[in-house]
Amino acid sequence: MSTLVQIGLKKIPINTGTKALCIGINLLSARSLTTKLEDLPPKPKPWNYNEKSFKYHHYLFDKTSARFDENTKLIVVEGPIAAGKSKLGKEIAKQFGLLYLPEANLDMSYTNKYGYNLKQLDPMLPPDCRSFDVKDFLKHPKHKLNARMQIDQYLIKYSQYIDALAHIFSTGQGVVLDRCVYSDFVFTEAMYSQKFLSKAAYKKYYEHRDNSLCDILRPHLVIYLDVPVPKVLENIQKRNISYEIKSTALTEQYLQTIEQNYKQKYLKDISTHAELLVYDWTIEGDTEIVVEDIEAIKFDYDSYDVKMKDWKAELEEDYAIWRNRFADNKNYLMNVCNIPAWDCPELLVEAEDLDTYYEVLKSAPGAEYEYGYNNNMGDKWLFKTGVPKRDTLPLIERRME
Ligand SMILES: *[C@@H]1O[C@H](CO)[C@@H](O)[C@H](O)[C@H]1NC(C)=O
Repeated sequence: MSTLVQIGLKKIPINTGTKALCIGINLLSARSLTTKLEDLPPKPKPWNYNEKSFKYHHYLFDKTSARFDENTKLIVVEGPIAAGKSKLGKEIAKQFGLLYLPEANLDMSYTNKYGYNLKQLDPMLPPDCRSFDVKDFLKHPKHKLNARMQIDQYLIKYSQYIDALAHIFSTGQGVVLDRCVYSDFVFTEAMYSQKFLSKAAYKKYYEHRDNSLCDILRPHLVIYLDVPVPKVLENIQKRNISYEIKSTALTEQYLQTIEQNYKQKYLKDISTHAELLVYDWTIEGDTEIVVEDIEAIKFDYDSYDVKMKDWKAELEEDYAIWRNRFADNKNYLMNVCNIPAWDCPELLVEAEDLDTYYEVLKSAPGAEYEYGYNNNMGDKWLFKTGVPKRDTLPLIERRME
């Protein structure tokens, strides 16, 4: 008998009636990652979560646990600006056969499904409705739209994290992230410390954070690349991205606040749940050593351990419920971040401006009809199957021009 009562925002419905299906899934997270990919057990074909719905009762014929092996892990590479995270992240992904997702950035949401860059609409938009991303912030650190940018950054990282979980549960392939939603606050703290954010915006940011993090699962492993601030400044110069080297925001104090929050808050908190590897990356280290260290970690935790607890489930059905939530209910998860901002003027837009915004947005190529139904964009059929049913973010690296 099912005791499923409520699929509420914060509650996971648990069906307790079928104990016979209990297969001790906890053990699946035991054992270490391996680079010997050929030794891993064969998996069922990846479930195409972008096109196929997975309802939770599907567990009866599609076992999520059958896709999980020792490399089914969520790994995050963290560190200051220009530390070498993406290079290391890609290498780790390659060695362990994982999916690498580039750092979440607003170019991912400014690009529509036809590849059209919505930033091109800016000249037609009221100033408050124009695109504004990290690059703009670095150029204009005192701009009113910083608040919106930082909350949008949070949301895009949250969105990407849900994608990562959907991928893991639907395919069994692990994921490597370049920074993540849990660490994003270090930037909010740095911005606030330099008065680039108002107190109201700062509080609003944490409202978003507090509302959303309880619905996702923390990573298995965090790798932190430690680079002292003077060296970060040097790396930024060396990387020679014009909006970074010219930025008045990237000061020693700003970078120091990032480092403090990373070390004193983020790493401290996340290490209660995740494994943690910290490297002095002042001089770029050896990827092989990191890979060996990862292989040496024993992910052996019993049901009572606080570590890895987010990933522990008693029943096959519990995995199915998570899988359904991340793969099928992304919009529903994102909706917890629809938080009114009446107390934060820089997050508000005039009603007429918003009208104009939607009007202009509708004129963008591919925006006339639902994706897959725009004949003028090359879509061919009136009735579609295989049209993505899910808003999975495109894997776009931040443009560094
Ligand atoms: C930095 O980039 C600019 C233009 O992108 C170029 O003119 C300049 O020579 C570069 N500086 C260094 C030190 O590479």
